[in-house]
Amino acid sequence: MGFATSSSTTCMLFLLLLLLPLSAVAQTNNGRVDVGASLTATNDASPWLSPSGDFAFGFHQHGNADGFLVSIWFDKIPGETKTLAWYAFGNGSPVLAPLGSRIQLTAEDGLVLRNPSGEQLWKSDITLDEAGYAVMNDTGNFAIRSRNSDMLWQSFDQPTDTLLPTQIMEKNGRLFSRQSENNFSQGRFQLRLQNDGNLVLGAVNLPTNLVYDGPYYSTGTYDTANESNSGDRLIFDEAGGVYVLRKNRERVYLQTGAILPTPAADFYQRATLDFDGVFAQYYYPKRSAGENRNWSTVWSIPDNICS
Ligand SMILES: *[C@@H]1O[C@H](CO)[C@@H](O)[C@H](O)[C@H]1NC(C)=O
Ligand SMILES: *[C@@H]1O[C@H](CO)[C@@H](O)[C@H](O)[C@H]1NC(C)=O
Ligand SMILES: *[C@@H]1O[C@H](CO)[C@@H](O)[C@H](O)[C@H]1NC(C)=O
Ligand SMILES: *[C@@H]1O[C@H](CO)[C@@H](O)[C@H](O)[C@H]1NC(C)=O
Repeated sequence: MGFATSSSTTCMLFLLLLLLPLSAVAQTNNGRVDVGASLTATNDASPWLSPSGDFAFGFHQHGNADGFLVSIWFDKIPGETKTLAWYAFGNGSPVLAPLGSRIQLTAEDGLVLRNPSGEQLWKSDITLDEAGYAVMNDTGNFAIRSRNSDMLWQSFDQPTDTLLPTQIMEKNGRLFSRQSENNFSQGRFQLRLQNDGNLVLGAVNLPTNLVYDGPYYSTGTYDTANESNSGDRLIFDEAGGVYVLRKNRERVYLQTGAILPTPAADFYQRATLDFDGVFAQYYYPKRSAGENRNWSTVWSIPDNICS
């Protein structure tokens, strides 16, 4: 056993130890976030990543906004301005976190966001039990679970302007548009699965949030004479189908003839209510030779926004 051997072994071990924490940061523990973990809003903060790295939860500075949005975004899509799948929202406006704010997963309240002086800006509402851990899922859903793994809160239940594959919207659920591309305040349009099962797109009266009569699009999925024909949920499935599921299990697809290129797993997908009132399904190739990668439209409704 020469001295040289053992010192090079020591050296290798030392290198390994240096490398380990870096790979641990990149992987974030299978998307798992433990109680007590926190993120701070800075320009170079690393987010909580899903296992594949496709989705990230954290602070994102968007446009000229004076602060950071607590949000979920498609992390592998290049570009400084990320496509957001979700952002924290309250009272008609996005939650803007000033530089140095901190979000922490707590047992009592789930996620709690505080500004640098410690004032609470936002929290996830969990009531059934204490949080045990959270997961940034590869589907783009951020879920807070109890120690027994019961679901306590999930971003999929609080959609903003976007739905993702595997996301379901129940009756009375809604999407609302932004003011503009870079202004995340609540805009003029709403997609709502009404209590009667009808899915409607309409303009909203902002202070009251009531939809003006005469939606400019509706699936007509309601039947007051026979409930089983009425819509029950809006589903975005993994294969890229977007449909109202009637109580009788029949599907009413929103896409008219247009279909996603296959295999669906090769594309990121989202369905977004854009600020101009158009609801559209988009796809983006996960892998391909760089240049012309962009979000492309699969279908959009209404067909002609001008009419
Ligand atoms: C992620 O979501 C999928 C689909 O809903 C689910 O089957 C899986 O259990 C989730 N993973 C975790 C770690 O929660
Ligand atoms: C976004 O739009 C709202 C409503 O028009 C306005 O009050 C707010 O100041 C705008 N925010 C930014 C950052 O421009
Ligand atoms: C309701 O409609 C379904 C078809 O979706 C039909 O099979 C059923 O008989 C109807 N029920 C009544 C009470 O009319
Ligand atoms: C991607 O699409 C946006 C919006 O349609 C467009 O402004 C932009 O120029 C496109 N980028 C590329 C590289 O095609």
